[in-house]
Amino acid sequence: PRSIFFSRHGESQFNVEGKIGGDSLLSPRGMEYAKALPDLIKNNFGDQPLTVWTSTLRRTIQTADHLNYTKLTWKSLDELDAGVCDGMTYEEIEEAYPDDFANRDEDKFNYRYRGGESYRDVVVRLEPVIMELERQENILIIGHQAILRCLYAYYHHLPQDDLPYIKIPLHTVIKLTPKAYGCDEERYAVPI
Ligand code: F6P
Repeated sequence: PRSIFFSRHGESQFNVEGKIGGDSLLSPRGMEYAKALPDLIKNNFGDQPLTVWTSTLRRTIQTADHLNYTKLTWKSLDELDAGVCDGMTYEEIEEAYPDDFANRDEDKFNYRYRGGESYRDVVVRLEPVIMELERQENILIIGHQAILRCLYAYYHHLPQDDLPYIKIPLHTVIKLTPKAYGCDEERYAVPI
């Protein structure tokens, strides 16, 4: 049966610093994950053909570096745009924009960053990606936390209010196999 594989990029320099957004490179741990990915895939999924989709951001492309498959970059897979808050820590955002910070907590799905996006916006911009995903076989998406939450919620039919809180851990490949009702799921974590 057809499966879709998801992974967040390896730990980035911004993840280490607690900053959101940006276009940082991988941390040393993130690079370890990138190196471990080819074997994880071979050992669990064998030699079946695979196509790797990344965003246009360096941390996803770098995570796919050692993977010897056809690759495609999608601008629509770029992380949720945090607008004026891009590159800040959550503490800095709370300090600079206390009302926004509270509003986001109140309705995280609909909250739109100043000059940026909401989860609702991201769901809309992912529509073409999902259309293409539905037509393809064996796609591995190396993506970002907010993006993968939207894709995961789509396949598991999860409600909008829960979507922004779905846990998508780093250094883990999630395999989804759509069934008549819902989806089977397996997870493969790399202990780094
Ligand atoms: O911190 C990593 C990150 O991918 C940020 O770039 C992004 O803004 C954030 O996670 C999304 O998570 P949340 O919506 O919970 O802030």
